[in-house]
Amino acid sequence: MEYILSSSLLACDFSVIEEELKQLEEAGVEWVHLDVMDGQFVQNISFGVPFIKSIRKKTDLFFDVHLMIVEPIRFVKQFAEAGANLISFHVEATDRVQETIDRIHALGCKVGLACSPDTDVDAVLKYADQVELLLIMSVQPGFGAQTYLRCCTAKIVKTRQYLTAHGLSTYLEVDGGINASNLKMILKAGADVIVAGNAAFSGGNIGANVKALREAGV
Ligand code: DX5
Ligand code: ZN
Repeated sequence: MEYILSSSLLACDFSVIEEELKQLEEAGVEWVHLDVMDGQFVQNISFGVPFIKSIRKKTDLFFDVHLMIVEPIRFVKQFAEAGANLISFHVEATDRVQETIDRIHALGCKVGLACSPDTDVDAVLKYADQVELLLIMSVQPGFGAQTYLRCCTAKIVKTRQYLTAHGLSTYLEVDGGINASNLKMILKAGADVIVAGNAAFSGGNIGANVKALREAGV
């Protein structure tokens, strides 16, 4: 099945980031998924604007920035200037959803709207015609290498049905706990953008890992 693979750098070896990016390109990965955490919206801190700005010089891959931060509107300009192609933010992280969507578009980036596992998918579906991507989290946000939450599959199915019924080409990205064993099931449920952190980088063999993911998705 056709889908976009977005590799989460959270699982990469940051000490050799340039090499990791080169290997992702050679493996044919389409997007780089950049998980930004503020220690407030989630109980973890990852990286921010300077990191994204510096790796922007090293690759032309599409930067899929996933903001897990409170009141994201405060920082979207900086992430756009750092080289984000798409900026996703969480519907739970702000009361200013419409304003944030409009601000990101005005900055020339695509917009993604994310929802955590406990959030009803209706909270993001009502914006489906205004954004380029809906991001369904399939683990609690904050950490990589967790186990896929089966309860999220119904949300993917419902989102795909909604997009089809409304004739929308909005991407449906699923993020968290995806590997070669469950990938096909998630694609069948309706995903067309797959985030892979641990499954892409484990063991340091990006080429073989990506090949296994591609084969699993056929
Ligand atoms: C979790 C992040 C995910 C995660 C994916 O908060 O949004 O992108 O790092 O990693 P894996 O694929 O290892 O679950
Ligand atoms: Zn993510």
